[in-house]
Amino acid sequence: MKILSIESSCDETAAAVTEDGRNVLSSVIATQIDEHKLYGGVVPEIASRRHCENIVGVVDEALSEADLTLDEIDAVAVTNAPGLIGALLVGVGFAKGLAMSADKPLIPVHHIKGHIAANYITHKDLAPPYLCLVVSGGHTHIVRVQSYTELVTVGRTVDDAAGEAFDKAARALGYPYPGGVHIDRAAKKGDPTKYHLPVPNTREKYDFSFSGLKTAVINLIHNTRQRGEELDKESLAAAFQLTAVNMLTDKLIAAAEELGYDKIAIAGGVAANSALRENISAAAKAHGMNFYVPELGLCTDNAAMIGCQGYYEYLAGNTADMSLNAYATKKLHML
Ligand code: KG4
Ligand code: ZN
Repeated sequence: MKILSIESSCDETAAAVTEDGRNVLSSVIATQIDEHKLYGGVVPEIASRRHCENIVGVVDEALSEADLTLDEIDAVAVTNAPGLIGALLVGVGFAKGLAMSADKPLIPVHHIKGHIAANYITHKDLAPPYLCLVVSGGHTHIVRVQSYTELVTVGRTVDDAAGEAFDKAARALGYPYPGGVHIDRAAKKGDPTKYHLPVPNTREKYDFSFSGLKTAVINLIHNTRQRGEELDKESLAAAFQLTAVNMLTDKLIAAAEELGYDKIAIAGGVAANSALRENISAAAKAHGMNFYVPELGLCTDNAAMIGCQGYYEYLAGNTADMSLNAYATKKLHML
């Protein structure tokens, strides 16, 4: 089954053609990062406008790269939640128009489920059940993937998302938006033991907290400058990254052990972080667990992951009619 998929929940206008939830025939991403960089973060109004301008070209290119016409596509999938509402509406409106005009089924996809499904592209053998850590710019969750379409959140951030914390720490250190990748690079050159940062605590054992860590980075920078001392940016980046990565790893492994999973996965933009990938991989090995992570290009926002999840949603009968709407927030099932 060939699915044309569309993703426009944040600052990437993306379209892809995927086959049977596992194979990518084409994947096109028009990024707006350079423009948002000027403002230090995503400006929702600009994001919506650029999606409107880009979507026709991106969808056209996805079809032509796959060497297919709209008639040869079996269904249209689209991210309809969660995300920036104006941005989501562009993708949803366009997908509805395509599905109606070409008389194809329309499949709504939850953005987080899409991130998790990126693993199915990289790991053809991966099948539920498994436990997944989702770490992106907007989300931090530990999710029980019970089947391809039944996902239950068992842990979540109580304040900032992991990617948000990376971006805010990076901004304080003077790196451009989005800063996660700059922290990743800088940390390789730093000494993580040079600065001491507090390990955040949470009431619920699988929950996360990042705002205290981010504030500690900001305070440390401020205090160092006030004392007229030189800041070792690389070492502070390394200390921040190590604290965040250890927290994410420890909670994921503890949850997997306690809930009885021997398969764990990670997904979302922060899953591109080299230290996180290495740390969880080593911890999984030490605990006899199999570890899955998408290839780098599939961690951050793309439409291929939406097409893959869309395939499983279609098999489960989860299609929509022309009344489909977009939602800025939509929870996965919560325990
Ligand atoms: O999944 P994504 O593309 O968008 C959302 O759905 O939010 O995630 C973007 C986030 C940004 O916060 C970005 O800084 C972070 O992923 N990120 C990284 C790395 N690459 C991207 N964070 C840490 N290390 C990286 N290498
Ligand atoms: Zn995302």
